[in-house]
Amino acid sequence: MTKKIAVLPGDGIGSEIIEQAVRVLKALDIPLEIEHAPVGGTAYDLHGHPLPPSTLKLAQESHAVLFGAVGDWKYDKLPREHRPEQAILGLRKSLGLFANLRPAILYPELANASSLKPEIVSGLDILILRELTGDIYFGTPRGIRTATDGPFAGSKEGFDTMRYAEPEIRRIAHLGFQAAQKRSRKLCSVDKANVLETSQLWRDTVIEVAKEYPDVALTHMYVDNAAMQLVRAPRDFDVIVTGNLFGDILSDEAAMLTGSIGMLPSASMNASGQGLYEPSHGSAPDIAGKGVANPLATILSAAMLLRYSLDHDAQAKRIEQAVQRVLQQGFRTADIYEAGMTKVGTAAMGDAVLKALG
Ligand code: IPM
Ligand code: MN
Repeated sequence: MTKKIAVLPGDGIGSEIIEQAVRVLKALDIPLEIEHAPVGGTAYDLHGHPLPPSTLKLAQESHAVLFGAVGDWKYDKLPREHRPEQAILGLRKSLGLFANLRPAILYPELANASSLKPEIVSGLDILILRELTGDIYFGTPRGIRTATDGPFAGSKEGFDTMRYAEPEIRRIAHLGFQAAQKRSRKLCSVDKANVLETSQLWRDTVIEVAKEYPDVALTHMYVDNAAMQLVRAPRDFDVIVTGNLFGDILSDEAAMLTGSIGMLPSASMNASGQGLYEPSHGSAPDIAGKGVANPLATILSAAMLLRYSLDHDAQAKRIEQAVQRVLQQGFRTADIYEAGMTKVGTAAMGDAVLKALG
């Protein structure tokens, strides 16, 4: 059966990197129906909304979404509901993409790219599982109002609500344990249970779910300590499961440990296997249109798409091996360039991957 893929390039370097990933998908001989739609600031300019109904409808009707990146400084002054970021938040919420997989892998060929010493970081391979549709990101009430009590009564105050329902914690915890079972059977749950009620329920619930996974060693860590341990001894971690806000922060930190955020893909999935796949990096408006962006994170996101939403594990591996091969061959975009390597632009990197696919 032909599978439908929604391709949403977005802003900044989005269209350049997506183009290369689409070339790779088309080279695979899998029957795919690929349809493009605007999203983010690009969609706002065209339709007055960062997530137009036609784009959302296409995403909902597709087996998977391949997403580029959204955001540009020029939209910073817009009211929040019209900013590009609302597109990705809206897609996550309306497709119910509660499970966000963010691998942080240090490729041996790029060992020098990390800002940490090789003896601390070489061989790093961790998976951050971030809950993506709850927490303070979506909790209500929220807003800006006049404070009616406390020492600042009468002043303007901003407020948000951190909240998690038990089933919401349970379903992401299950995925955390299942991911750990497929790896080294170590799961670290990150919270702030020394301060937050939400985190207390998080921790209690994860401990409850752990009873179903006696083969997995569960540890708990406060988020401030986790941020510290990630730079002190990152290889002590294997799978980390955490909430939306902590996961946002820790996944950026983990990505940077590899020194090459331009290499890291991500997957956001719902309960029925539908997923959105995007590079871990942003829209990089400073280098947009120059043909120098690294397309590998997006190409690797397409591999994740094949594996998790289309059940084409062999084809996913083919892409991953092709990427490994171009690194071995010395091809480097500017973000991962080292002396002695072959510096290439976005399209030439795409060419190299296509060639390595065989
Ligand atoms: C991410 C991004 C988003 C987030 C923004 C763009 C809304 O930082 O995917 O990590 O905070 O989740
Ligand atoms: Mn982020």
